[in-house]
Amino acid sequence: MSEPLQQRIASALRGVINPRLGSDVLSAEQAANVAVTLDGKVRLQLRLSAQDDATLARDVRQVVERVEGVTDVRVDIVDAAAPTPPASAPKRAALPVMQEPTAPKGVPAPTPIAYPNLGRIIAVSSGKGGVGKSTVTTNLAVALAKQGFAVGLMDADIYGPNIPRMMGVDAPPAVRDDKIIPLEAHGVKIISLGFLIEKDQPAIWRGPIVMKIVTQFLRDVQWGQLDFLLVDMPPGTGDAQLSLVQATQVAGAVIVTTPQEVSVGDALRGAMMFRRVGVPVVGIVENMSYFESPETGKPLAIFGSGGGARLANELEVPLLAEIPLYPPVLQAGDAGAPIVVADPSCSASQKLVKLAARVAESVGARPA
Ligand SMILES: Nc1ncnc2c1ncn2[C@@H]1O[C@H](COP(=O)(O)OP(=O)(O)O)[C@@H](O)[C@H]1O
Ligand SMILES: [Mg+2]
Repeated sequence: MSEPLQQRIASALRGVINPRLGSDVLSAEQAANVAVTLDGKVRLQLRLSAQDDATLARDVRQVVERVEGVTDVRVDIVDAAAPTPPASAPKRAALPVMQEPTAPKGVPAPTPIAYPNLGRIIAVSSGKGGVGKSTVTTNLAVALAKQGFAVGLMDADIYGPNIPRMMGVDAPPAVRDDKIIPLEAHGVKIISLGFLIEKDQPAIWRGPIVMKIVTQFLRDVQWGQLDFLLVDMPPGTGDAQLSLVQATQVAGAVIVTTPQEVSVGDALRGAMMFRRVGVPVVGIVENMSYFESPETGKPLAIFGSGGGARLANELEVPLLAEIPLYPPVLQAGDAGAPIVVADPSCSASQKLVKLAARVAESVGARPA
């Protein structure tokens, strides 16, 4: 198995051509809302119009059934002429496969579990890697802690679990009475996949592990009573995102992007995925918006600008912050002390602190 299950299903769907449209069912958006459970059950919608060959539904079912790892397939036929529901479904029921007791022999389908002790769970996500997601997450966590909130930070990025380095912690966590004791730094409780996964294990092998670990991190870590649990997601819309939203109720997603168009496109897809499963997008953070010289303090647009604003517009959510590309931010991360503690007065820090206040405000949280 070389690719994640969802990708293998997508490739299979791309092999089903609708002769009427001369295009495959996925690209033509005839097959949509594909949901996959942890144990390989697939549910998808197929939009058929009166002119479509009825065998299309059978073909779709058959190719998906043949995908390795798929245990069950359900195809819901919808009338292509009927209006499509809005992308931002208001309820969690938008991923119905999660609630279905379809699992055979008493194996329960994953159902989101509420963890009241975790406070508000905020996913920090991005379309691409390298946009500064972990940098934003660590600074957001520390800034919220400084504002008086009890904050946990979960590093669920299987490709680059670098939260420990950025927070300056590096010991495997202790286990006491079957509970994992989180590490603590800068007033934040921290748990990372990086603590548990072999460093040189290829990322592709980590995929299946992440499903189990996300649940374990929610349930078996001695978080105590939190106001916020921030989750640093891997880039894109993969297993970790799906695992998290299936495992528990996520209060909101913060999407990090850079001003470049490519990054914005990927970020849009990421944001839509959260919406589709009923998780509100709190807003957009544009990172590396412009260069700020440490010598002169002068701003300089280097990547073009306005990408974050365009994305925010498209999604009709606020642009929460525009963070400068400022070399001390990188140095602070490398040294294990996020910039909001290393240099609280610089403009990047001030923007990150404001960001924290806006995030707290948008989910209605007040420090105890
Ligand atoms: N605003 C910024 N100014 C300067 N360097 C930054 C900034 N944001 C991120 N970086 C640096 O860019 C690199 C990628 O950031 P990181 O947070 O690891 O991205 P991601 O988690 O999205 O992969 C890191 O070396 C980080 O220190
Ligand atoms: Mg990262």
